[in-house]
Amino acid sequence: MEHEDLVAKAMEAREKAHVPYSHFAVGAALLAKSGRIYTGCNVENASYGLSVCAERVAVFKAISEGERDFEAIAVVTEKGVTPCGACRQVLMEFGEDIQVIVANGAGEYRVLTLQKLLPEAFTPKHLE
Ligand code: THU
Repeated sequence: MEHEDLVAKAMEAREKAHVPYSHFAVGAALLAKSGRIYTGCNVENASYGLSVCAERVAVFKAISEGERDFEAIAVVTEKGVTPCGACRQVLMEFGEDIQVIVANGAGEYRVLTLQKLLPEAFTPKHLE
């Protein structure tokens, strides 16, 4: 799976974002080691605090389908911003080596690792 293909899936998912309040559409595409891709978009709510980020929608879809191991996640926003702290932590649960492909609306992207985005993280290891 090429980075560009994962970005394209995240762009498609972004079109489904439910963002009547922020008008800030986010799309995500999570590649599991099984080869399957799980997409997500942000889903906002009139009770604002119930809104869920695109990345977490993708992760929870994947986990609920039995996946546990991931290669990469592509995240698309208009300007190519990095995932929020909550989503970094949720991704970290499943491995610090997950590649985070951050893309903008034009499809330009850069590749980061979760470890870089969330250094010194609290992880499942700390509960052993
Ligand atoms: N959002 C995401 O979907 N992912 C992020 O990493 C940052 C924020 C969403 C939440 C909300 O629907 C909108 O973007 C503005 O914060």
